[in-house]
Parts: sequence; structure tokens; C-alpha cells
Amino acid sequence: MKRMVSGIKPTGQLHLGSYLGALKHFVEYQNEYDMYIFVANLHCITVYQKPEELKKNLIDCIALYIACGLDPKRTTIFLQSDVKEHAQLGWIMNCNTYLGELNRMTQFKDKQAKGEQGLTGGIYTYPSLMSADILLYDADYVPVGDDQKQHVELCRDVAMRFNNRYGDTFIVPEPLIAKVGARIMSLNDPTKKMSKSDNNDKGCIYLLDDLKKVRKKIMSAKTDDVAKVQYDPINQPGIANLMQIASAFTNESFDELTAKFDGKGYGDFKKYVADIVCAELEVIQSRYHDIVDSGMINTILENGAIKATAIAKAKLDEVQRKIGIEVK
Ligand code: AMP
Ligand code: TRP
Repeated sequence: MKRMVSGIKPTGQLHLGSYLGALKHFVEYQNEYDMYIFVANLHCITVYQKPEELKKNLIDCIALYIACGLDPKRTTIFLQSDVKEHAQLGWIMNCNTYLGELNRMTQFKDKQAKGEQGLTGGIYTYPSLMSADILLYDADYVPVGDDQKQHVELCRDVAMRFNNRYGDTFIVPEPLIAKVGARIMSLNDPTKKMSKSDNNDKGCIYLLDDLKKVRKKIMSAKTDDVAKVQYDPINQPGIANLMQIASAFTNESFDELTAKFDGKGYGDFKKYVADIVCAELEVIQSRYHDIVDSGMINTILENGAIKATAIAKAKLDEVQRKIGIEVK
């Protein structure tokens, strides 16, 4: 069975972008692949987090993984920091990654270009930790949203370089990016990615948002005056984004959606999207509350960490022997 690894940063709440770009696919793949899904808590402290908020977000993130359909019996679910090998291999990967490579990462470059203050060393070198996250598990595939493709490609380059230098050690992984939903845009500025770091709450639908609020955000999503439901992301980015969302939920093609809303207004289309999204979120939210109340999260994390550590430890031992830092 081929293996998959992926993680989500629990910075703030999970939103429709993380769900459609990543989480929903984890659930679909778990029957066909040996899945390792973790909460990337070491990644999220690259930006300061209030400790109490962070802790709550970690618990919510795990509860939402399960509420969205990840099955702890099939998928190994764990907290990144519970498997110490991530940080250790992260350092080794950092020593095998060139400054030129890190300098090319668009996520970091964008932050710098925007003049964000207080950027940390962690945020600059985080692709090295991400390489370690993946390579520790000999993952064949890494399901991610579009924004993470470049990081997985860097991981491939570093893995190949390491294999050439030290002999075959790592499986070179491939990013797996969905055709629909890999880049959900902000509802009130559809030229920007939907993001939890977006300060404007109107553009982002959180999985735990009150459903009335969800409906309102969709009904007031920014559109255009073309007045035709058709897939034209350049001239109608808002409608294209809503079509992506609808299609990701229902599997309808863009042509089918265009035919369905031929001669109808944007209000009708928005209502259709809002109905679909709210119906799915209602189920997720009700499961989420049951899971939090059940107290099952600690057990899931303990079991996940034991299983993940067994694999990660063997890989780290092999790496340390190969690079010559062990004396035994
Ligand atoms: P993050 O929450 O930033 O850790 O992202 C978790 C996963 O969701 C990653 O695979 C991202 O690529 C994906 N993701 C985040 N934002 C979006 C978005 N707006 N559209 C699609 N995928 C996204
Ligand atoms: N960097 C990813 C993000 O911001 C999260 C992540 C960390 C990840 N390590 C990973 C994703 C390993 C896939 C594989 O979304």
C-alpha cells in the first residue's frame, strides 16, 4: 500500500480552503493509502501564538479532522511535536538545503515583500522542517493545496540530493493537488487566497462558523456585473471561486453549473452554494461537538504518536548513521 503524509498548521481555525484543498481529500484517500496526518504545531509557532489560544486550536484541529471523516482506525493521527524525530531531522534537512532554495520560496518572499515585521528564522527555514515531516515516513504522496506545491518540490530536490550524497535513503515524494478546490479564494477579495491570516472575517468561512454567518458571507460574496454564471476566473473571479466551491462539494462540472443557472441571477446561485456548504458544515459541526465531549482525543493522539514514532525513529537512525554523526 502506498503511503501518504500531510499536515495542517493549527494557526487559528480551519476554514473552507483547508477543508476543500486538503482535509476532504485526506478523508477520500484514507481507504486506499496508508495515511499519516499530523497537526503541524511546530510550524505554527513560526509566528507568535497566544499559548491558551494555540492549545484550543490544537484540540479543535484534531476534533475537526475526525468530524470531517478521518478515521483514527485507518489513519494515523498525531501531533507533530509528540514525535521528536521531526525537529531532529528538520535540523539535518536544514543543513542539506541551500540559502538560494529557501530564498526562492514564494510564501516567504511574499511576506518579506509585504514588509511584515518580526519575521522569524523559523518562518524562513520552515520548508526544511516540512521536508523532514514528509521524508521521515517514506511518503509516496503528499496531498496539499496549491500553495504548498513549491515546498513539496523543494522536499523532492533535497531528498534527491541526499540520496546522491549518502546513498538511497529517502523515497522522493510527489505532491498530490486536487483539480478542483486546490485554491479557494477570499469571498470578499477573490484575487486573494482564503486564509486564516486574513484579518477580514468576511472573506473566510471557518468550519465552526455559525451557519447563519456562513450563509451571510456567501450571499454577500463579491461578484461582478457580467450577470452570467460561467467559469471565467480572470474576468469573474468571484463567480469562478463560488463555482469551485460548489463543484468541490457536488462534483458537478463547471459546464453543468452554467447550464443549471442559465438565465438565473447570482442571488439564486449564491443561495445554492450557501445551501450546499451549510448542509455539510451542519453535519461536521454536530460531530465536532460529540467528539470534543467524548474525551477521545488524548487516546487518539497517544496511539498515533506511538505508531508514527516507530517509523520516524527507524528512519532518523538510518540517516544519522549514513551522515556519520553516530559513533556506534
Ligand atoms: P494550512 O492551514 O495553511 O496549514 O493549510 C493546510 C492545507 O490546506 C494545506 O495543504 C494548504 O495547501 C491547504 N489550503 C490552505 N488554504 C487553502 C485555500 N485557500 N485553498 C485551498 N487549499 C488551501
Ligand atoms: N506547511 C503546510 C502548510 O502551511 C503544513 C505542513 C507542514 C505540511 N508539514 C507538512 C503539509 C508536511 C504537508 C506535508 O499548510
